[in-house]
Amino acid sequence: MKKIIELKNITKSFDGEQPVLDNIDLDIYSNEFLTLLGPSGCGKTTLLRLIGGFETPDAGDIIFLGERINNVPPYKRNVNTVFQKYALFPHLNVFDNVAFPLKEKKVPKEEIEEKVHEMLSLVALKGFEKRSVTRLSGGQQQRVAIARALISHPQVLLLDEPLGALDLKLRKDMQVELKKIQKQTGITFIFVTHDQEEALSMSDTVVVMSEGKIHQIGTPVDIYNEPVNAFVADFIGESNILDGVMLEDYKVRFSGQTFHCLDKEFMKNEPVDVVVRPEDVDIVPVEKGQLTGVVTSVTFMGVHYEIIVDVNGFKWMIQTTDFVDVDERIGIELEPDAIHIMKKSEYSNLYGDYSSFSNELDELSEVEEEDEDE
Ligand SMILES: Nc1ncnc2c1ncn2[C@@H]1O[C@H](COP(=O)(O)OP(=O)(O)O)[C@@H](O)[C@H]1O
Ligand SMILES: [Mg+2]
Repeated sequence: MKKIIELKNITKSFDGEQPVLDNIDLDIYSNEFLTLLGPSGCGKTTLLRLIGGFETPDAGDIIFLGERINNVPPYKRNVNTVFQKYALFPHLNVFDNVAFPLKEKKVPKEEIEEKVHEMLSLVALKGFEKRSVTRLSGGQQQRVAIARALISHPQVLLLDEPLGALDLKLRKDMQVELKKIQKQTGITFIFVTHDQEEALSMSDTVVVMSEGKIHQIGTPVDIYNEPVNAFVADFIGESNILDGVMLEDYKVRFSGQTFHCLDKEFMKNEPVDVVVRPEDVDIVPVEKGQLTGVVTSVTFMGVHYEIIVDVNGFKWMIQTTDFVDVDERIGIELEPDAIHIMKKSEYSNLYGDYSSFSNELDELSEVEEEDEDE
């Protein structure tokens, strides 16, 4: 795979404040669908703007195909951007919006027509040429913006939360569509989102960020199965995060029991964080359980039940297709591959069980409301 962009030790702050980006190192490859994922305010947009040329780093280098481009202006970079607010020209129809970048470049008329038609069929908007963009749905406007951004064949397309304004169903459709467009064109997509599901489902590579730092770079499967620390484990999917001690290779102790795991090369008796995904917990009869606990809540989720189980004061989240009742005592079994061991980190004590589960849900809906206000 060819490296297309290299970010080397990038640091950026505004007005001499705390760095918004702190020593970012990242390689981006041709043909890659790469997603910057992290909570609101972690520096995703700033990183994208640096790549686009709308900001310059305080320190570090941005390399594009081997050349340093720190001071190259946006229009001279072979990079284009799609913003969340699509910024279409309201007085122009679909055809003229998409044709705009080529008209600016004085491309011959026939060539423009051919390219616009090619782009409109790529984004499934054939036949919409004469339609006013103000009469399009949000999803259709988004497709026009994508067609316009792709028509001049950038090598890299930057997408800053482009699906954020769409409702859930449309958003899912556009996720599939965008992925298809990326594969068809072979253009590198650098996609920004704070939605972990979106990141996992679309990307070749996910870059997990918080507070201006990159925590982990990997495939969606790696990031989900092998989170590097409690922050990543908590941010990506649901997780039960427990305090443990690595007794020796393949042997970890937590919740007063010793478990077999697949992890090794920790120090003898090293304190660790143990993560267990809710779908990896097996419910067994009480007498067969490695742990036992009492069910405190059961929520039907369609495909499975999500239950909270109190095991000596630690509240586990478990996803199961078996029906259990509130107040029932159950046994829990963990296969070695259900257990993932992480090094202790500054995030270790910030996450844990699901005792404040309903509070967490409240906080989440507040965050989403704030996002909608933006
Ligand atoms: N032009 C700017 N001037 C001052 N602060 C900024 C500017 N742009 C971004 N910031 C700050 O940098 C931080 C990261 O912002 P941003 O990159 O937009 O995060 P994200 O896209 O992950 O939500 C925020 O604290 C934000 O307030
Ligand atoms: Mg942003």
